[in-house]
Amino acid sequence: MKIACIGAGYVGGPTMAMIAHKCPDVQVTVLDINKDRINAWNSDSLPIYEPGLDEVVFGCRGRNLFFSYDVEQCVAEADVVFVSVNTPTKTKGVGAGYAADLAYWEGAARMIAKVSTSPKIIVEKSTVPVKTAAAIEKVLSHNTGGGVAFDVLSNPEFLAEGTAMSDLEKPDRVIIGGRMTPSGLKAVQTLSEVYAQWVPKERIIATNLWSSELAKLTANAFLAQRISSINSISALCEATGADITEISRCVGTDSRIGPKFLNASVGFGGSCFQKDILNLVYICRSLNLNEVADYWEQVIKMNDKQKRRFVDRVISSMFNTVKGKRIAILGFAFKKDTGDTRESPAIDVCKGLLDDGALLSVYDPKVSEKEIRTQLSLPAGLGWDSTKHPFVQQQASEINTKIECHANVYDACKDAHAACVLTEWDEFKSMDLGKIYASMTKPAFLFDGRNVVDAAKARDMGFVCYGLGKPLDKFIMGDEFNR
Ligand code: UDX
Ligand code: ADP
Repeated sequence: MKIACIGAGYVGGPTMAMIAHKCPDVQVTVLDINKDRINAWNSDSLPIYEPGLDEVVFGCRGRNLFFSYDVEQCVAEADVVFVSVNTPTKTKGVGAGYAADLAYWEGAARMIAKVSTSPKIIVEKSTVPVKTAAAIEKVLSHNTGGGVAFDVLSNPEFLAEGTAMSDLEKPDRVIIGGRMTPSGLKAVQTLSEVYAQWVPKERIIATNLWSSELAKLTANAFLAQRISSINSISALCEATGADITEISRCVGTDSRIGPKFLNASVGFGGSCFQKDILNLVYICRSLNLNEVADYWEQVIKMNDKQKRRFVDRVISSMFNTVKGKRIAILGFAFKKDTGDTRESPAIDVCKGLLDDGALLSVYDPKVSEKEIRTQLSLPAGLGWDSTKHPFVQQQASEINTKIECHANVYDACKDAHAACVLTEWDEFKSMDLGKIYASMTKPAFLFDGRNVVDAAKARDMGFVCYGLGKPLDKFIMGDEFNR
């Protein structure tokens, strides 16, 4: 069997590497129009960082795993074509700010139709709005010259970045949606057999196309909703003296609720949650289900509020201004163990602080200086309702003069008035607080947006310490200030 995958990104690359690793008899080729990306996949330094990825890629590459930009040729020869292209939120036109932009998908489908001379199974891997498969079927069937038969399947990916390889190796489930026709069922069977090489059969769920597409959006919406729920309570904790970690523990021990995804944070990020919920909201509004749309939109509003609340807390604690003050930003990726910054809460927090005149010293173990500067120079809130976005955009050139990027925590914190932990990197749990405190301007503030620092220890050392959703420091509450 020959498998081709269009799109060599965070989903296509690791997923295909795992298929090649587990199915030595299958030839897998990952394709992209971006030559630099393909060259990187063929080099010693892969374009994405993911624990365990290097070993799998280096083990299979050149054997049954290939990376190529000869997209048309490889698609023409394939039996199964995964489509794993980007589906960003539309920024212009109908549905701007909400709907998924399917232009890359459509382009891929037209190309598949053009080059195909043999029957193929086309697999939707990227998250798409429900009913996309129907649109793709139409594009394929109206553009193929020789009456080539295509079966479109939905096989959403549930991997999370940072744990992609273990998620792929031991998935909770694999969902394969197809048409309930003889050829549709046969296509589902063919793809199931690929996964069955390493996934237990009872974890491979066959369903219909629309349920599969909607299941993916629903899973991401539920996960994001849990984070917004616990984050909403974190605000209440700070106002009442309760502790969000204790709340998570008490609530999460109910087996019906479960302990996962209850970590309060400065906000969720990543390429999926916001995009998928906006997509869900858009679909609901187009179907006149306005209350359903409002319900899910609130999850995004709560997330935006959480980022704003963090920025406000920093500014109000530091005597209502951060103008001209250096603030260390510890972590820029949207979560630990990835270099990905898409929709990272750090972007909005940094922009909020820059708006108030702060100077930033940023450190992230996996994000490059170029990426940090690019993200902070992009217009704010492109994804979601840019007109109402809480942060005002400064000129890129002006922003660049206010940012310094550092190679370690200690350099980033030197002479800073405050340090903000925005990503839960393990190294922030064990950093030398004494050394950091000694090098900072006093009073030295520590704002922990991920609750990874030992706050009691930090306070003993002299820090004014804020933990998200934790009882407030007297200093921050204003007692000491008002005395
Ligand atoms: C998510 C889904 O988990 C995955 O199934 C889907 O395929 C893609 O989207 P990902 O975005 O890679 O994966 O990471 P995830 O671990 O879900 O984290 C998303 C965001 O939520 C991160 O910013 C993370 O820091 C935040 N988060 C997660 C919290 O703030 N608290 C939590 O308890 C868990
Ligand atoms: P994801 O996180 O979903 O994997 P990425 O943006 O990381 O998304 O990757 C999507 C990839 O798809 C990009 O590298 C992009 O260049 C590629 N791509 C988009 N359209 C096409 C196409 N028509 N042919 C080949 N590759 C494409």
